[in-house]
Amino acid sequence: MKHFSIAIDGPAGAGKSTIAKKIAKELNFIYVDTGAMYRAMALYFIRNNIDASDKEKIKNNINLVDISIEYIDGEQQIFLNGENVSRLIRTEEVGKMASAVSVYPDVRLKLVELQRSLASKANVVMDGRDIGTYVLPNADLKIYLTASTKERARRRFLELQEKGIMADIDVIEKDIIDRDYRDMNRDFAPLKQAEDAIVVDSSDMTIDEVKDTIIQYFKKIINN
Ligand code: DC
Repeated sequence: MKHFSIAIDGPAGAGKSTIAKKIAKELNFIYVDTGAMYRAMALYFIRNNIDASDKEKIKNNINLVDISIEYIDGEQQIFLNGENVSRLIRTEEVGKMASAVSVYPDVRLKLVELQRSLASKANVVMDGRDIGTYVLPNADLKIYLTASTKERARRRFLELQEKGIMADIDVIEKDIIDRDYRDMNRDFAPLKQAEDAIVVDSSDMTIDEVKDTIIQYFKKIINN
């Protein structure tokens, strides 16, 4: 049976997960957050005091890491060796480590296998960095969702402020620039726009405007 897939790639903070979740809900698709998989893997390395630069140790530990996902009340939950770590992975520390260890092909190949297997079993909206270019090159719709670094830093700042966390917006912007650089310049499956991706710049759009734009593109494709 044919399953539909929508790939949403783009830099950190462009709104991918918020938008992808909403689209999945509206179309009754499964939302697959691939960043959460890299984050869960990163959490394992942090907990085991494995340095991001220790290529050998990382390689030797990959077989000890089991990442799986489940859906509870429609929300993706991520499990690291059987433990639900969905909340624990949402820190800046884990995000940075995820970006650092995602450069290793061994790390990526393990997670890509899981991602492809999910897409072969259900209609999915999958977000990440290499979904349209590498994980699902035949996705029905590929979106490259982006926003200016200033706007992404502003959104992250507001998000932290809402949680009562004080932050310096210039530091956030610098972190975003560093993370983009690393994600776009790694050798294996870097973040880049797929040739057949549609670019959506969310800088001056509301969440619902972005969601509706993408759903319209999808409907056009499946009605053709
Ligand atoms: O989307 P996020 O911030 O949760 O992702 C965390 C890091 O994981 C990101 O900086 C790079 C890496 N990542 C990746 O390399 N490929 C993906 N498909 C998703 C995330």
